[in-house]
Amino acid sequence: MGNKYDFDAVIDRRETFAVKHEMLPKGAPEDSLALWVADMDFAVAPEILSAMEKRLNHGIFGYTMYHSEPLKRSITDWFSRRYQWGMNPRDVFFCPGIVPAISYLLELMTEEGDGVIIQRPVYYPFTNKIEARGRKVVNSPLKYDGELYSMDFEDLEEKFKDPSVKGMILCNPHNPVGRVWTKEELKSVADFAKKYKKWIISDEIHCDLTREGITYTPFVSVAEDILDQIVVCTAPSKTFNLAGLQLSNVVIFNKEWQKKWKEYVWDVLNLSSPNPFAVEATIAAYNEGEEWLEELRGYLDGNFQYVKERLEKDLPKAKLIPSEGTYLAWMDFSAYSKDQEALEKAMHREKLALDEGYIFGEEGIGFERMNLAAPREIVQEAMDRLIRGIKGLE
Ligand SMILES: Cc1ncc(COP(=O)(O)O)c(C=O)c1O
Repeated sequence: MGNKYDFDAVIDRRETFAVKHEMLPKGAPEDSLALWVADMDFAVAPEILSAMEKRLNHGIFGYTMYHSEPLKRSITDWFSRRYQWGMNPRDVFFCPGIVPAISYLLELMTEEGDGVIIQRPVYYPFTNKIEARGRKVVNSPLKYDGELYSMDFEDLEEKFKDPSVKGMILCNPHNPVGRVWTKEELKSVADFAKKYKKWIISDEIHCDLTREGITYTPFVSVAEDILDQIVVCTAPSKTFNLAGLQLSNVVIFNKEWQKKWKEYVWDVLNLSSPNPFAVEATIAAYNEGEEWLEELRGYLDGNFQYVKERLEKDLPKAKLIPSEGTYLAWMDFSAYSKDQEALEKAMHREKLALDEGYIFGEEGIGFERMNLAAPREIVQEAMDRLIRGIKGLE
């Protein structure tokens, strides 16, 4: 790994209206160290910055199109070069975010009262959006053996059999537990979808952020015979720290759903035009950002290793769940306390703003999620605070 990019630089994000730093979770003191929202405290790749500067200097920021050959090609080239996934550019649709995309898809693909499977502990907007649309959450909790997470296929099949269930939102890689599902695991999910004729929305927003030696499998590679039942959500936002630019790519194969997407997202909402900076940033990211990403992955691996060592040394009863992907550390402190309120208070006492485990479902009680996409110095300070907080519970 080279050392071309500076991930150690601490950049002050105050006065940039950063949600992570300005909208702290309830109860966290104002000057807390913020490692909750999933964006990065690293500057974007200089290749992206110069593309955006060039666009800025042009001076005109009028309506901008999504369906252009250079943008589509940058997206499809990325997935075919890195993951051997040959997307048809006509199947790729714009949405400002994956969460709004999932929300629209639920509207298009289900009726009120229909059941949708999720696997808790899981990214909490899945629950919020299912419920906000008047649909029913059908939870198939992941299995946790005290060390590792896996899917509970027996339970999952029961849930798929339920006639009120219409589909499943899959999280690959899984936030917060950090699993990058294997080909075999994904194949089992695809087999259920095929057997019981259910749809799958596969949220692959974290797909590029895998640990060294771990391979992400696109869900489509195990679902080639049921593509009409699959929607895949991807974006450069997590990978390249572009969430605020709001450009996501939704891959829809089913022609009827494509038609419905256009009628709803284009015609009803009039939402089809990204901002000009997002377009330039995405093209630069996918065409020129690979070297930066590879170096970032190495840096993140180092942060995970650091957290692991600190926990082993200072909190031997705690567990860092082995991370295969995402930049989110999922840590089990249940041996110290299963009282989520006490854990949360301990974090706030130490002025540390994390995502508390329980917000991902009751399966997350006793856990904390810490965002490690920050310079090592910040992660070190966060670990000092975390360790003091947990020790205070003993
Ligand atoms: C699994 C998952 N999906 C979606 C999102 C956010 O998507 P967006 O900001 O594009 O709505 C996140 C952000 O943390 C996430 O972890």
